[in-house]
Amino acid sequence: MSDLYERAAGLDSADQLAAVRGDFVLDDVVYLDGNSLGALPVNVPGRVEDVVRRQWGELRIRSWTESGWWTAPERIGDLIAPLVGAGAGRIVVGDSTSVNVFKAVVGAVRLAGGPGAGRDEILVDASTFPTDGYIAESAARMTGCTVRAVDPAEVPDALGARTAAVLSNHVDYRSGRLQDLPGLSAAIRAAGAVSVWDLCHSAGALPVGLDEHGVDLAVGCTYKFLNGGPGAPAYLYVRAEHQERFDSPLPGWNSHAEPFGMRSSYEPADGAVRGRVGTPDILSMLALEAALEVWSRPDVSVAAVRAKSLALTDFFLECVAAYVPEGRVEVVTPAAHAERGSQVALRCPDAGEVMGRLIAAGVVGDFRAPDVLRFGFTPLYLSFAETEKAARVLARELS
Ligand SMILES: Cc1ncc(COP(=O)(O)O)c(C=O)c1O
Repeated sequence: MSDLYERAAGLDSADQLAAVRGDFVLDDVVYLDGNSLGALPVNVPGRVEDVVRRQWGELRIRSWTESGWWTAPERIGDLIAPLVGAGAGRIVVGDSTSVNVFKAVVGAVRLAGGPGAGRDEILVDASTFPTDGYIAESAARMTGCTVRAVDPAEVPDALGARTAAVLSNHVDYRSGRLQDLPGLSAAIRAAGAVSVWDLCHSAGALPVGLDEHGVDLAVGCTYKFLNGGPGAPAYLYVRAEHQERFDSPLPGWNSHAEPFGMRSSYEPADGAVRGRVGTPDILSMLALEAALEVWSRPDVSVAAVRAKSLALTDFFLECVAAYVPEGRVEVVTPAAHAERGSQVALRCPDAGEVMGRLIAAGVVGDFRAPDVLRFGFTPLYLSFAETEKAARVLARELS
């Protein structure tokens, strides 16, 4: 037995989050893809069954009020809020991340004053997840702005009197690099521009501190580290001081001050409700609500999750260095904790085939074109023993 194998056993017995694994449906597969689709929480099937059979099947239309369906977007937003450092009443759940990026980017340009105030440029993180870039381009065309792609490290120099909004990914989906959200948000504010952060790869994995760091707007998905299930609804955060001026480009009837007034003219609701559009996707939304219950366990906190995430990724990097022949892979994820999300990305020319073999051998990560092997570490359910095994199997499949 290797030294690392034994160390993993010791780390697992000291792990404060080890018992949380029992709250998820897992098997012998080493699941390192929770940064794409989180595992199924054990309480979700029962909740979905109740929502379908009793709330829908028996109560039918009464559930909009009696089962709390109508207020679910704000109620669930308040469950996500403490995980991303937001006060209550600032987050609304609904629609996809892409749709929320659209609301946020157009809303940000409007908050900044837009071309009428000389602010006609939207800066977008050059390595952004594609959907954000596509939507920013369309938002720019609609608002009379242009988009400039900038490396996140160069955002402070790129900011100026023309900057309306800056759209950045908190953790880069490919490399796993964690951006300096406090520093960049401060620089964006100082330039009179509006920040929009995509939290897809950070929420539920590390502290975000939206209120504390003066973030203006943020969006994120709930199917990765929040384990909400395939296609679970995303969310939109609007800073308290912007809520009154937030002007959504999708003012559906659900965001009206009096939705059942059925008025022909639009009057926006106050608070987070303003970010709603149409009828919420109740089945997915209530599955997500059940999935978020794990965060109310006394042994679960964002700080504990972050500490374990760093320990897992450190240990994986150490195992990879020990097992994989030198030069076979290049580590893309930063070594510094302050710059690392909850994933490890390794580069090699045959990454697509290697990942296929790894998955067949029971270690599930994913491949991101053209040459990245991506391993996501969900501290709520992953062990150090699985981490060591993943590196061992990877080394075998690479040789
Ligand atoms: C960083 C990031 N932004 C946006 C998206 C797209 O989200 P959606 O499919 O919910 O629109 C993803 C999906 O993986 C993502 O990783």
